Amino acid sequence: MTRAVASNPLDRRLEAELEEFRRTGVYKRLNYLDSPQGPVVRMEGRGDVVILSSNNYLGLCAQPEVVAAGKTALDRFGAGTASVRFICGTFTIHRALEQACARLVGTEASLSFVSCWNANEAVPATLLGEDDLVLSDQLNHASIIDAVRLAKAITKCQTGVFRHADLGDLEEKLRAAGDRRVRMVITDGVFSMEGAIAKLPDLIELCRKHDALLVVDDSHATGVLGATGRGTAEHFRVLGEVDLITSTLGKALGGAAGGFVAGSAAVCDYLTQRARPQLFSNALPPTVAASALAAVEYLEAHPERVTTLRENGRYFREQLLALGFKPLAGETPIVPVIVGETAFAIRLSEELLDEGVFVTGFGFPVVPQGQARVRCQISAAHTRDHLDRALAAFKKVGGRLGLI
Ligand SMILES: Cc1ncc(COP(=O)(O)O)c(C=O)c1O
Repeated sequence: MTRAVASNPLDRRLEAELEEFRRTGVYKRLNYLDSPQGPVVRMEGRGDVVILSSNNYLGLCAQPEVVAAGKTALDRFGAGTASVRFICGTFTIHRALEQACARLVGTEASLSFVSCWNANEAVPATLLGEDDLVLSDQLNHASIIDAVRLAKAITKCQTGVFRHADLGDLEEKLRAAGDRRVRMVITDGVFSMEGAIAKLPDLIELCRKHDALLVVDDSHATGVLGATGRGTAEHFRVLGEVDLITSTLGKALGGAAGGFVAGSAAVCDYLTQRARPQLFSNALPPTVAASALAAVEYLEAHPERVTTLRENGRYFREQLLALGFKPLAGETPIVPVIVGETAFAIRLSEELLDEGVFVTGFGFPVVPQGQARVRCQISAAHTRDHLDRALAAFKKVGGRLGLI
């Protein structure tokens, strides 16, 4: 028998909160797509729209080689392992993927997870203990914030937050933690809501000075930054100098799902032995692993995609500025336009959608109160025509709403 909606106190409370979200204009409506992810997508009820809110930075989601690799793996390996890796075997495709990820980001080894969320959760909670400390940048991704909370709950390690990109604050906190056995510092490589790049050379120097371990989540930098898309370390020409890198396979690298931790062989082996998401949860489906491997190989063979991505990002940012918008300055293909209140950002994104451009509005609690924004993400797959269509929509809607 189906129970009536809102028949218990929890449902009643949630319904009331959802109603409040709708009333205040912050309710998130899901848009359904009926086509592969690409520069243009077919949206249910809307038809074809130019998409500016995907992490499909290299345009590999529907790349024929990437799709074909997944199909071949389905025939070869079936749907999955039907258990966790250490119990019933690890597919050879996982080993090949892990070797490729390590090669790409310049580390000795890597270990795959079903998501970068899981990979981040595994790092401090598995590697630290109660004599250790982890310090996290104030604007780090939610998965890192939760990873730090989890580590504290599981291991009783000490935790702390340093002001965003503030090396002085970080140094003070490292200095005060001289008695800790391990000092771990975690930062995003690219902060996705701002498109800002971490000050990696300074962080490396500071961590060395204080004998601290540096962990960089490169989810928005892998395939994006550096001459050949090897991430934040390549961007700053410090490949091989970051202790631990985590990243996702769900953005530039094919966009399906999955993540990895890359670092020393010892760290990856220890995580294989002890990380709870490894020990108690199935591995990536082999279809997804094979598509991600094909995406890494495609990137290695086609560095020109990264150049196109960079040029597209620069073009879009310059043209927005020329129209009178004030996007946040930056060098990444993430181009945020801050508009103030959440409801206004959502209205802007809805009016842009009416003009055939899909770009999501972000508000509190994803970004601070009063700093709601639409965040444009540019892809190597966008042509100048796609970008010009999007810019024409920005001009029309921006003028109508008094933004320019
Ligand atoms: C910086 C960062 N880390 C981790 C994640 C989580 O990645 P995944 O989707 O693979 O769990 C994201 C996704 O939004 C991200 O932006």
